[in-house]
Amino acid sequence: MNVKGLTALVTGGSRGLGRALGEALAAAGARVVLVAQHAEPLGAVVAGIRARGGEAHAVVADVAELEAAHAIAGQAAALVGPVDLLVNSASTLGPVPLRLLLDTECEDLSRVLEVNLVGPFRLTKAVAGSMLLRGRGTIVNISSDAAVEAYERWGAYAASKAALDHLTRVWAAELAGTGVRIFGVDPGEMNTRMHAEAMPEADPTALADPARVAARLLALIGAESGVATGARVVVANLPSPDRGVG
Ligand SMILES: NC(=O)c1ccc[n+]([C@@H]2O[C@H](COP(=O)([O-])OP(=O)(O)OC[C@H]3O[C@@H](n4cnc5c(N)ncnc54)[C@H](OP(=O)(O)O)[C@@H]3O)[C@@H](O)[C@H]2O)c1
Repeated sequence: MNVKGLTALVTGGSRGLGRALGEALAAAGARVVLVAQHAEPLGAVVAGIRARGGEAHAVVADVAELEAAHAIAGQAAALVGPVDLLVNSASTLGPVPLRLLLDTECEDLSRVLEVNLVGPFRLTKAVAGSMLLRGRGTIVNISSDAAVEAYERWGAYAASKAALDHLTRVWAAELAGTGVRIFGVDPGEMNTRMHAEAMPEADPTALADPARVAARLLALIGAESGVATGARVVVANLPSPDRGVG
């Protein structure tokens, strides 16, 4: 799959990794639709991409809402055509400071699962049918090392990402041979608002720039990637475009 001319739907596009991916995709010639809940920062990202000659559009939505997936997919199709690439990057930690499971409200666990797991599932369902008909498409579910490590206080978020990883594997098994690829991606620790909210004591200069992570992900998305569908990809293990440390 060539990135140039690709139609891409990226959730969480107003900041952090989703923003960096949207910007990198648009700079490489993709036609990009970005999703977030807050219109103003999302609009600023879209305006920045357009000012640099790229194509980008904003869709303001909460991916956790029951009716959102078809509205998002429908708007994306109307703006750029059928979606070739879906990146589920939008995510929530739940209440911060992060809490022990004994102190976690059931409602907070439900909200984290709706945003991080059910939203990506609904969006995948909303775009996969068209991908299947066209015999091509790529879906990237952004995961975390918290999906495989049992960190204290990360329970709700970690459970959502572990379930997302497994859903990714089952999607891949069910979509095998159709031309539709799906990956789970652990981006590593990045200098973003989410990281600052989770770990305010961390040194931001020791964290990866999301733009560097996005550059590595472009290679995964592009045709040159030999990564098998269903793989859980750790970005630090992907080749760096400039062989730098991401
Ligand atoms: N940062 C890290 O170190 C790290 C490490 C491992 C994995 N990750 C994963 O990487 C991905 C990106 O994280 P990040 O650090 O870039 O996060 P971030 O800086 O907090 O950005 C999150 C983005 O998602 C949007 N968003 C949040 N909830 C949403 C909802 N319900 N509906 C629609 N959009 C929503 C936010 O905009 P609005 O607030 O306007 O909705 C924002 O654009 C996430 O999946 C995260 O779990 C991050």
